[in-house]
Amino acid sequence: MKINIAIDGPSASGKSTIAKALAKRLNYTHIDTGSMYRACAYLALKHELKPDDIELVDLVNKSDFGFNESGHILLNGKDIDAKIRSKHVDLLTSTIAQNQAIRSTLVDMQQQLANSKGFILDGRDIGSVVLKDAELKVFQTASIESRAKRRLAEYQTKGIDVNYQTIYDEIKLRDLQDRSREHSPLIQTKDAKVLDTSDLTIEQSVDRVYTWAMELIKERRDTND
Ligand code: DC
Repeated sequence: MKINIAIDGPSASGKSTIAKALAKRLNYTHIDTGSMYRACAYLALKHELKPDDIELVDLVNKSDFGFNESGHILLNGKDIDAKIRSKHVDLLTSTIAQNQAIRSTLVDMQQQLANSKGFILDGRDIGSVVLKDAELKVFQTASIESRAKRRLAEYQTKGIDVNYQTIYDEIKLRDLQDRSREHSPLIQTKDAKVLDTSDLTIEQSVDRVYTWAMELIKERRDTND
């Protein structure tokens, strides 16, 4: 018996890392919905369009979004994962994610991709909009300090020169944009379990969600027996 798992939370809280590891352990499919919003920012940059241009909505509607076996986003069949993880794309994506027409197109695509059980989706509106009936909803968070430290380490491994304060300020700004936007703001739904990863390792975080998932699967199996 399989369930669906929704993982929401602020930027750089490690949702995709946890979701990916969990999907491997449960043999589920992981969809990083943030990468779909990032792909829209990539389209805007490539075609020199503004976040609220109607042409951008048309372009998103006409584009094909998919994922390869490594979980990388495919835009019209091309792996663009390496191109959507820059600081520049981070902020533009947060603005594009405020566009309701783009959100509704992406939500439809996400619901079509995850149209059965055995999916783990991570994002901001999964438990509240995309998979409202997910059996397990997780609200993953961490202090801004620990998120900024993790992001700094990530940039340093990639050889990107940036300082802690800049990253801290950008995370704070993205949090504000994601939580205060008009359409589908980041919220913690009442039925979500909170996972604060500030003082947890990746393994400890994955273990915790895995335990929650297994408890639910067992409960459902027992009621079906
Ligand atoms: O998870 P991420 O940092 O890759 O997300 C990039 C941006 O996309 C972020 O500003 C929030 C937005 N987003 C969203 O609004 N809804 C989602 N389901 C996923 C991401």
